[in-house]
Amino acid sequence: MIDFSFTEEQIMIQKLARDFAQKEVAPRIKELDQKAEFDRSILTKMAELGILGLSIPTKYGGSGGDYISLGLACEELEYVDTSLRVILSVHIGLNSLTLLSWGTEDQKQKYLVPQAQGKKIATFGLTEPNAGSDVVAIEAKAQKSGDYWILNGEKMWISLADVADNFLIFAWTDQEKRKKRDHSGMSCFIVERSFPGVSTATIHGKLGIRAGNTGSISLSDVKVPKENMLGEEGEGFKIAMFALDQGRYTVAWGATGLIKACLDHSVKYANERKTFGEVIGKHQLVKEMISDMVSGYECSRLLCLKAGWLKNKGLRSTKETSLAKMYACDASEKASSHAVQIYGAYGYSDEYPVERFYRNSKGAVIYEGSREIHKLMQADYALGYRIDKPTRCTLPLPEE
Ligand code: CAA
Repeated sequence: MIDFSFTEEQIMIQKLARDFAQKEVAPRIKELDQKAEFDRSILTKMAELGILGLSIPTKYGGSGGDYISLGLACEELEYVDTSLRVILSVHIGLNSLTLLSWGTEDQKQKYLVPQAQGKKIATFGLTEPNAGSDVVAIEAKAQKSGDYWILNGEKMWISLADVADNFLIFAWTDQEKRKKRDHSGMSCFIVERSFPGVSTATIHGKLGIRAGNTGSISLSDVKVPKENMLGEEGEGFKIAMFALDQGRYTVAWGATGLIKACLDHSVKYANERKTFGEVIGKHQLVKEMISDMVSGYECSRLLCLKAGWLKNKGLRSTKETSLAKMYACDASEKASSHAVQIYGAYGYSDEYPVERFYRNSKGAVIYEGSREIHKLMQADYALGYRIDKPTRCTLPLPEE
């Protein structure tokens, strides 16, 4: 039977994330965005509340909660600002859930536990200056040397790069396979900021998500112990794709929060602002934009719920997650454009938050699989060119 009601636990986590975002961040977000300032105290508060350990089992230091709860938290966080949801996308979606699924028990104890407790912050380094959508075009390499791997390379456009303590870094371990673009020559490593040769920088001048940290990671002869390889040698590409299944899920849920924020602000303004002798909400063309936001929100949410339902059942959701991410991010870009339009000239200034929503919406149709990548994936599924095979590791069932 299909059941669209939320459990008590899901509602509790939704409220926790909403109260945190509304009380702790909403009053200051305009200033943080204007100054392009990442406020580290936000991470401390999120850790205290257990938000950084959502969906990670309590036995690994997490706060538990199923994958729908994680989604609802992402929705509430992005309702206030995209930068908050991005923290969960990289720390939990791309990194911690990947460690939980692919890590050895020792790796989980050493890295996942402090991450889930929020004592250490984590991110994911796949993208490079010359490789975004085309993952096998990365150039980072790892050479074996006794009990270590020596890593060299540059990562770019990495959320929380200048903030995180731990990184999942993808690099070629087989140069011959790299030349043939054979993904089975790529591996994944757990890298600590404290390892000599790791340096990071912040990227300035972004269009949106200005209250978030985005940066680069430079690896220069970084000695990584062999026990820090995640998965087996040659499994890096698959681990990256698995991680993206979780990261994209959080991005999709976040986009629903952005649409809802656009909708709520637009409805309020449309009921106040008057033109031609009546509130603008009475004009049919304004109604059309409001209606687009309503359908965008509801459809996006249903797609997110379906992907979350599959994850809760321990089933692979690559296709459904990709569709949810593609649709919700598209709808949020459209909703924020509509919101600015409804506010008219006022929407064009930072007097109202809709211009921030508009700028923030653009990133998500580019990162974690551009709109174009997801369109290709969906077409390939439909045409039968893409069929998902069982993977060696799956997302564990949520804790009872
Ligand atoms: N889980 C596990 N395994 C998977 C998988 C998944 N989700 N998806 C694919 N695989 C496996 C396949 O089964 C296949 O295995 P075999 O070789 O054994 O058959 C292998 O991986 C190759 O799969 P595909 O043939 O499907 O790979 P592809 O070459 O067709 O993939 C692509 C192409 C879909 C475009 C992919 O490269 C892609 O998604 N690109 C976008 C990358 C992206 O989103 N980058 C953003 C990173 S975010 C970041 O770094 C910034 C930050 O802030 C952290």
